[in-house]
Amino acid sequence: MPKSSSFAAEARGLAKAAKAAEQTGNIEKARSLYLKAADKFNQASSLNPDKLDKNTQHGLAKHFYEHGRSLGKQPASIGGSSQVQDEPILLKDELIISEKPDIGFSDIGGLDSVKEDMKKAIIYPFTHKKLYDYYNQKSGGGVLLYGPPGCGKTMIAKAAATECDADFINVETSTIMSKWVGESEKSIKQVFSIARDCNRAIIFFDEFDAVAGRRGELEDYAKRIVNELLQQMDGMDKNDNILVLAATNEPWAIDPALRRPGRFKKLIFIPPPDLEARKAIFNIYLQKLPLENNVDAATLSKKTDMYSGADIKAICDDAAEIPLQEALEGKKARKIALNDFSTVLSSRRSSIIPWQRLAVEQVRKSGEEDIFKEIIELET
Ligand SMILES: Nc1ncnc2c1ncn2[C@@H]1O[C@H](COP(=O)(O)OP(=O)(O)O)[C@@H](O)[C@H]1O
Ligand SMILES: [Mg+2]
Repeated sequence: MPKSSSFAAEARGLAKAAKAAEQTGNIEKARSLYLKAADKFNQASSLNPDKLDKNTQHGLAKHFYEHGRSLGKQPASIGGSSQVQDEPILLKDELIISEKPDIGFSDIGGLDSVKEDMKKAIIYPFTHKKLYDYYNQKSGGGVLLYGPPGCGKTMIAKAAATECDADFINVETSTIMSKWVGESEKSIKQVFSIARDCNRAIIFFDEFDAVAGRRGELEDYAKRIVNELLQQMDGMDKNDNILVLAATNEPWAIDPALRRPGRFKKLIFIPPPDLEARKAIFNIYLQKLPLENNVDAATLSKKTDMYSGADIKAICDDAAEIPLQEALEGKKARKIALNDFSTVLSSRRSSIIPWQRLAVEQVRKSGEEDIFKEIIELET
C-alpha cells in the first residue's frame, strides 16, 4: 500500500516540473503536470491520518487543479476526436496508460480454461474478425473477471492485451474517482471516445467495484459515473472494436444493471489455484532461485491448499530471504532449503480464506447465489 508521504513527494516533484514548464511557455505540458500533481496531492490527502496535513494537501490539490485548468482554455485535441472539444478537456495521458503491458499467458501459472475463455471472448474476435463476420457473430462487449485477490485477474487482463493486437487503455480508477473534480462521468465519456478513435481497443477497469457500485448505495457523483458507464456500454452495440474488460474481488458490489445482456455479457471466475496450478506457479518462481535438491514444486504445492498466486510468490521471496539474511550477517551463502519454506509456511496464512468468508456471506445477502455459484461452491 503506497503511503501518503510518497504520493506527496511525487506531487511536489510534479508541481515543480509544472511550474518550470509554465515559465518556459510550454503551457500544454504545464497544464498536464499541474493536473497530475493535483491528483497525487489528492491521493496523499486521502491516505493521510493527520487531519491538518490532510487539509493542507487537499487545499494544494484544489489549487493546482484550478490553476492547471485555467491554463487549458484552448482546446487540446484528443486522438482527433471532435465531439469532446466543447467539454472540459482531459488529456489522453492524464487519464490512461496506453502502452502495452509486458506480460504474456506463459507468465501465468495454471488457469488454462480461463486462458481459453479469454481467447474466445476477446482474442479470436479480434484475430479472426472475418470468420466472426461470416457467421454474423459479434465481438466487443464486456467481460468481467472476478474472484479472490492475488489469483491473477490483473495479470490475465494485461496478458490478454499482449496476446491480441489491440490498444490497451488502462483506466486509472483514482483519476476517474477524484471526487472534487465533479466531472468523473465526463472522464468516462472521454475514455470511450478515445477508444472509438483506436482501431481496436480494450478498455480495462481494474478494481471495478470502486467505479461501478450499486447505485442505491452511492453518493450522487458516483451514481452519475455508473449511469454514464451504462450509456456508453449500450452505445457500444454499434461498435464491435471496443471491448471493456473489468476485474474485481467484490462482484456482488457491482451495480446489477451492468450485468444485463449487451453490457458485461460474460462473467469469468478466476479461481484459487488448484494443485496443478499451484505447481505451475511454484515452478515459475522457483526456477529463478538456487535450491537444495529436495525442494520442488510438487512438494510445496501440496502444502499450500487455498493459497493464492500472490501468496506463492511471497512464500518464495520470503524463503530466499532467510539464507540471504544469514549471508549478509557473514555466514557462508547456501542454497535455499525445504526447511526455509517450512519456516515461512508456518507463519504465513492464506489470503483467500478471509476473502472467501466475506464473499459467501455477501453473495448470500444479495441473493445472487446462482450468478456467483463458483463462490458458493468454494465453501464445500
Ligand atoms: N497464476 C499466477 N501465475 C503467476 N503469478 C501469479 C499468478 N497469480 C498471481 N500471481 C502473482 O501475484 C501477483 C498479483 O496477481 P494479480 O493478477 O494482481 O491478482 P488479482 O488481480 O487477482 O488480485 C502477480 O503480480 C503475480 O506476481
Ligand atoms: Mg488486481
